[in-house]
Amino acid sequence: MPSRSACFFLFLSAIFGSWVIASGQKSNQPIKVAAFNIKGFGRAKMTNGVTAGYIQDIVGRYDIILIQEVRDTTGFALNRLWTGLNRTDSWGLTVSGLVGRTNYKEQYAFFYRTKKIKVTGSFQYDDKLNDLFEREPFAIEIEYNSAKRSSKSRVVLLALHTKPQDTIQELKSLPQAMRAVYGGFKRAKGIIALGDLNADCSYLSNAMKKQMEIFQSDGDFVSIIPDTEDTTVAAGTNCAYDRAIILGQDVKVSDAGPYRFDSELGLDVETAQTISDHYPIAFNLY
Ligand SMILES: *[C@@H]1O[C@H](CO)[C@@H](O)[C@H](O)[C@H]1NC(C)=O
Repeated sequence: MPSRSACFFLFLSAIFGSWVIASGQKSNQPIKVAAFNIKGFGRAKMTNGVTAGYIQDIVGRYDIILIQEVRDTTGFALNRLWTGLNRTDSWGLTVSGLVGRTNYKEQYAFFYRTKKIKVTGSFQYDDKLNDLFEREPFAIEIEYNSAKRSSKSRVVLLALHTKPQDTIQELKSLPQAMRAVYGGFKRAKGIIALGDLNADCSYLSNAMKKQMEIFQSDGDFVSIIPDTEDTTVAAGTNCAYDRAIILGQDVKVSDAGPYRFDSELGLDVETAQTISDHYPIAFNLY
């Protein structure tokens, strides 16, 4: 017969055992975040069943994903993707207005799983006074169950697709934009700029990179996609154009890198390039 204290211990471990399992299931999973420049994302891509299917499969790997180069003012392409995603889970969508100095405009779009993520705010960065960016950054604040804290956390995601020829100037302006936007979201523990920053190869030399505040290893910013990564689909290029930059010491991430959908899905180069010339970049957010 077990002693009285042994009974008590069994009772306690029963309670705590189930608590650990319950909270583990709820909050131990980090949020999967991605940013994908889907070249010229519009009607043509989403009416091609094969391409649309691949795009939906790639987007559906994540809990929240920023899509860049949305090129369809009718909203048809985004709606078709959204409808497809909704057949698998409940998805939300937050889209920026049209950005771009000329008649060529793009939109930023965030798809996210509504069971895991709540969008608690959004902000369109305005640079009318000094015109720093071709496509002004668009930010959303998200709330999610933090795997590290086992409580709710808020983080700001700031979308940016730089103009290749101006990327040096735009990336020099990024710290001030990130600080300003972060300052507007008092409950967020940090801000993550993400997207196609054209931050490599002919657009940004290694010497230039060394001068950039976002790439200093001892400053306020942490760049989580290594310079050695290749975020381009073409075999002849090896460039880490797509990046994610963190401001805020409490932001914890892991497993940052590109998703090579061509080799992962067994696609030849031609098929892969009908999807995009960029790989998505992704990371786990805790
Ligand atoms: C997708 O699902 C969400 C949440 O259930 C809903 O609000 C939205 O209207 C749906 N979108 C489409 C295009 O059906």
